[in-house]
Amino acid sequence: MKRRWFLASTAAVACLTVGLTSACGGGSSTGGSGGQTLVMATSADYPPYEFVETSGGTEEIVGFDIDIARHIATELGYELEITNMDFNGLIPALQAGRADFVMAGMTPTEERKQNVDFSEIYFEARNMLVFPADQAITGPQDLAGKTLGVQLGSIQEGLGNDLVAEVPNLTLAPLNRINEIVQELRSGRIDAAIMENTVADGFLANNPDLRAVEIEDQEAAGSAIAFPKDSERVEDFNRVLAEMKSSGLMEELVLKWFGDRES
Ligand code: ARG
Repeated sequence: MKRRWFLASTAAVACLTVGLTSACGGGSSTGGSGGQTLVMATSADYPPYEFVETSGGTEEIVGFDIDIARHIATELGYELEITNMDFNGLIPALQAGRADFVMAGMTPTEERKQNVDFSEIYFEARNMLVFPADQAITGPQDLAGKTLGVQLGSIQEGLGNDLVAEVPNLTLAPLNRINEIVQELRSGRIDAAIMENTVADGFLANNPDLRAVEIEDQEAAGSAIAFPKDSERVEDFNRVLAEMKSSGLMEELVLKWFGDRES
């Protein structure tokens, strides 16, 4: 107790003497951590999971996934570096060894499991059809002759492909970023889009001219952390995820980022 106080006050004095340089203000490297860095890749176009916050003059990637990643890195004694790319490039980045793990609201599908390993699921989600409020759409059966936006490389693209096989004259428009999908919807270049409920909710709140219905009879979506195949880190990450659940921290973060909307 006494010793900790002593260390803390010494550090404070050192900072005051040196002045507020980045050594004191920024980096959190504490003695003994060894300063090892984990690189996390994400696609920061997915509020509230991960997005670029520009308020305050600086650009920072924030969100539910980012808070979880920071907590896990700290618990395991690593620094965290975040690299931002298109969703479609995330699995290739893991395969090429350009990232240690991916958090991007990514759903662990059988197809992806052939190329990467996944943690346990840490959050569940469902898919919605999002469209301009004045459209008479009640479900996928009303999409005949329409253009449907999806994120390239996402499970929503897979779902869209299934619908194309069932619904007459439905055209799929795969786009790189979720923001592009919302823009295309609002400008009328696409008629509808598939998005996860938690992400759709945020866009609906900011775009009253959009509406959404849930797609029935679908497999649940949900998010897990992805790793290169045979990564040794999966177990450690799962352990911290389980601790976050049992300690209530996960629930706290769900409330922080998703509010009281049901998931
Ligand atoms: N859960 C979906 C998937 O895994 C969509 C995730 C999109 N994530 C993002 N950061 N844009 O395919």
